[in-house]
Amino acid sequence: MVSLSALSVALPLFIGVAVASTTNSSVSPSAARLSTCDTIQSSISSASEVFFSNTTEYNVNMVYNYVTSVQSAACSVEPGTPQDVAKIIGILGKTRDAFAIKGGGHSYNQNFSSTPGIQIVMKRFNKISYDKKSNTVDIGAGTIWDDVYKYLQPLNVNVVGGRISGVGVPGFLLGGGYSCLTNAHGLAIDNIVGFELVVPSGQILEVNAKSHPDLFWGLQGGYNNLGVVTKFTLKAYPQPKIWGGLLVNDIKYADQMIEAAAKFSAEVTDPKSELFFSFSWANGTMNIVSKVYYNAPTPPPGMFDEILAIPTVERDIQTRDFITFIQNISTDARGEHSTVPTQAYTVPVLQALYNETTYWSNAMFKVDPTVALVYAAEPYISSILSHGQPGGSVYPTSREVPLLPTSIEWSWSDPNADSVMNAGMSASTQAFNNKLIALGQKKVTSAGPYGNYASNFHYTSQDIFGSNMHRLSQVKSTWDPHNVMGQTGGWKVVSA
Ligand SMILES: *[C@@H]1O[C@H](CO)[C@@H](O)[C@H](O)[C@H]1NC(C)=O
Ligand SMILES: *[C@@H]1O[C@H](CO)[C@@H](O)[C@H](O)[C@H]1NC(C)=O
Ligand SMILES: *[C@@H]1O[C@H](CO)[C@@H](O)[C@H](O)[C@H]1NC(C)=O
Ligand SMILES: *[C@@H]1O[C@H](CO)[C@@H](O)[C@H](O)[C@H]1NC(C)=O
Ligand SMILES: *[C@@H]1O[C@H](CO)[C@@H](O)[C@H](O)[C@H]1NC(C)=O
Ligand SMILES: *[C@@H]1O[C@H](CO)[C@@H](O)[C@H](O)[C@H]1NC(C)=O
Repeated sequence: MVSLSALSVALPLFIGVAVASTTNSSVSPSAARLSTCDTIQSSISSASEVFFSNTTEYNVNMVYNYVTSVQSAACSVEPGTPQDVAKIIGILGKTRDAFAIKGGGHSYNQNFSSTPGIQIVMKRFNKISYDKKSNTVDIGAGTIWDDVYKYLQPLNVNVVGGRISGVGVPGFLLGGGYSCLTNAHGLAIDNIVGFELVVPSGQILEVNAKSHPDLFWGLQGGYNNLGVVTKFTLKAYPQPKIWGGLLVNDIKYADQMIEAAAKFSAEVTDPKSELFFSFSWANGTMNIVSKVYYNAPTPPPGMFDEILAIPTVERDIQTRDFITFIQNISTDARGEHSTVPTQAYTVPVLQALYNETTYWSNAMFKVDPTVALVYAAEPYISSILSHGQPGGSVYPTSREVPLLPTSIEWSWSDPNADSVMNAGMSASTQAFNNKLIALGQKKVTSAGPYGNYASNFHYTSQDIFGSNMHRLSQVKSTWDPHNVMGQTGGWKVVSA
């Protein structure tokens, strides 16, 4: 019997391999940075705290989902109030130190939420509350989706949020957000009604479409460029029990599964449905790993029949609570994630995805036999972008055609393999993009790639923000004229 988690993204076999290298392998922080830490410590209220590298709290805060994201910060600060965030950003704006804002720590790109400078950890912003009257949920920017679902489940409501356990709320929401509920309600950002935002001037703003239309637009896909979000307000929806779960097929059924998945993507338009379909290589073996989802206790007759008819090595399909659909993975491995915008998952496109997985699994297995690769199709229905206004958000850069965020995720354990993996991932991303164009998918470059999946070894900030870079830089020049937020990592506004 193959292990379920080893197949889907992988990784009990890595646990313990690389975790030890997470914190103190690097050089000591500079005196200047430590002095900034001291200044912060003496300025913040008792709701907040600074931790140096001689503490347990510091070590916990340096842990990220991927070991390759980790860096040793000079210190870690946990603000407990928006006022203290304002003080910290004010100090950093003067000292010009590099800093990072860490939510869930799931970013696979180094420096996006890690730093050798001052690490700001949002975990104390952990409040979640449901307001029945407005039917909205306030979610602190230090929570992970697990916390949100645990809170909302007994209330029988839900929000458009993440699908993977451990993923942080803020990074997911500031980048766009594909969810189990995306076919029904669109991207997560299309369901945000407000933000609490600390801007670099120190003001604490309640941002919504009416109060600050420019910031409201810029925070929907514009990441950490405009300030530090401390709270999100999301629309709520009733959440019934759902139907679905995981299927794993032996790769010998590739042809049948490709046919069935292509047919499903072409024909099923029910907004309650979702399908995730991947070729997954781990431990020297390829499998097809899928998740089927229906946002009600029973799917309509026939909808998933062809997929379910194919024999499985692992099958866990049932009527269940929403929270049990959320996949619990933890990745104490090195890793990288990339994406290729895709117009449609036809049979030739899925065959090409299969070929990419096979080709790179064979190649990378020789470099590091612990490598795990997942090439995943996310066939959303064609109406998903209709839940937001054209031009209403930074992501996607165009709502003309919904581009599906094909996801490529590699993980491995040998630090010496990093550069080969980074180059291979980039080559694979390019090859699959070229293949899509050769197959007639001419619109795949009509909007930028999804930044939450995109590797910074392959894509630039210009690729991510594309035609929205100019407007985003204008909004930023109003609210962050001294480019304080440029001292953090991530997809960055470069002035146009
Ligand atoms: C690194 O941190 C670990 C965990 O806190 C500690 O046990 C170890 O002694 C530290 N090593 C060095 C060289 O500081
Ligand atoms: C840890 O280091 C800081 C800064 O160097 C120092 O002020 C503090 O006393 C140390 N704490 C412990 C527990 O050693
Ligand atoms: C992250 O930042 C560090 C130090 O600023 C730099 O050495 C490193 O190359 C950066 N990593 C990436 C992947 O850009
Ligand atoms: C990997 O394969 C080996 C040999 O077939 C097996 O013993 C081991 O349990 C597998 N590991 C996982 C995580 O599936
Ligand atoms: C997933 O596992 C983590 C760590 O073991 C735990 O904190 C979290 O609550 C789990 N999530 C779910 C949805 O079970
Ligand atoms: C399979 O993928 C590799 C790597 O991108 C490429 O070189 C090869 O031409 C592809 N084969 C087919 C049949 O498309």
